[in-house]
Amino acid sequence: MDTIRIGELTVNRMGFGAMRICGPNVWGPPRDRAAAHEVLRRAIELGVNFFDTADSYGPHVDEDMIAEALHPYPKGLVIATKGGLLRPRPGAWDPDGRPEHLKRALEGSLKRLKLERIDLYQLHAPDSKVPFADSVGALAEGQRAGKIRHVGLSNVSVRQLEEARRICPIVSVQNRYNLGDRSSEDVLKACEQLGIAFLPWYPLGAGETIKQEKIKVIARKRKATSAQVALAWLLAKSPVMVPIPGTADLKHLEQNVAAARMALSAEDLAALN
Ligand SMILES: NC(=O)c1ccc[n+]([C@@H]2O[C@H](COP(=O)([O-])OP(=O)(O)OC[C@H]3O[C@@H](n4cnc5c(N)ncnc54)[C@H](OP(=O)(O)O)[C@@H]3O)[C@@H](O)[C@H]2O)c1
Repeated sequence: MDTIRIGELTVNRMGFGAMRICGPNVWGPPRDRAAAHEVLRRAIELGVNFFDTADSYGPHVDEDMIAEALHPYPKGLVIATKGGLLRPRPGAWDPDGRPEHLKRALEGSLKRLKLERIDLYQLHAPDSKVPFADSVGALAEGQRAGKIRHVGLSNVSVRQLEEARRICPIVSVQNRYNLGDRSSEDVLKACEQLGIAFLPWYPLGAGETIKQEKIKVIARKRKATSAQVALAWLLAKSPVMVPIPGTADLKHLEQNVAAARMALSAEDLAALN
């Protein structure tokens, strides 16, 4: 698998989005906790060493399960988590970017993940009620205190990325991006120019994008699955792209990781672009 540097860290370019191993609608525990642990462990066996999670997944359940399944962590494993969203009830994802909340959220993630320092801590989303600089400032403070190794952002504009970079080094941006939704193209380009990682969430469009006929056509031609074509397209799209497909299914996990070794032809790419 190709690797990429995220700050001081080197990871394989096909990551794992752990959000899907929680209960339905990312709320509560999964029906089968042992099966969720198995998915996490299998990802490591397949060579995945970049896991994305958040305190809001479950909430808390996702981070707990990562620690249960994988701690003590294998050397080289990078866990990226996020803070800044509250889950008062199923279906609600309420921003809370107040520095005092982010400080508490960071402490909670450190405890649940059984870590003294988080390799990549991302602001989950800007909070319109809080000056963006204050939210980023809280993460910069966590970094100065040695609790965060690298700071990342999620769901931001180019302007917000620029503003954050004036406060502390930013090593990654996680925005929605896939074959059917390229609304963050400008942010991707900014990441390329800055040489920082772009982590596309919904890389498979939550399973919807991969139903597109043009993807199915290439998949049939390449004897691959549509998900593999969508992921290979993302990898070909930009050298800073690190897809984080999510699944709770072992077979899908294996397919998704195998897509890292799939090269699409110029003709395939032209048909998809
Ligand atoms: N920063 C943010 O605001 C934000 C928002 C959403 C997500 N995320 C992160 O991004 C990650 C990826 O997003 P996502 O999980 O929502 O969406 P996704 O990766 O685009 O799609 C996941 C969905 O596709 C299905 N799937 C996965 N692999 C498949 C395959 N090979 N063939 C057919 N279906 C497949 C999964 O179902 P099965 O379980 O049945 O495989 C699941 O329903 C999340 O896990 C999370 O870490 C971040």
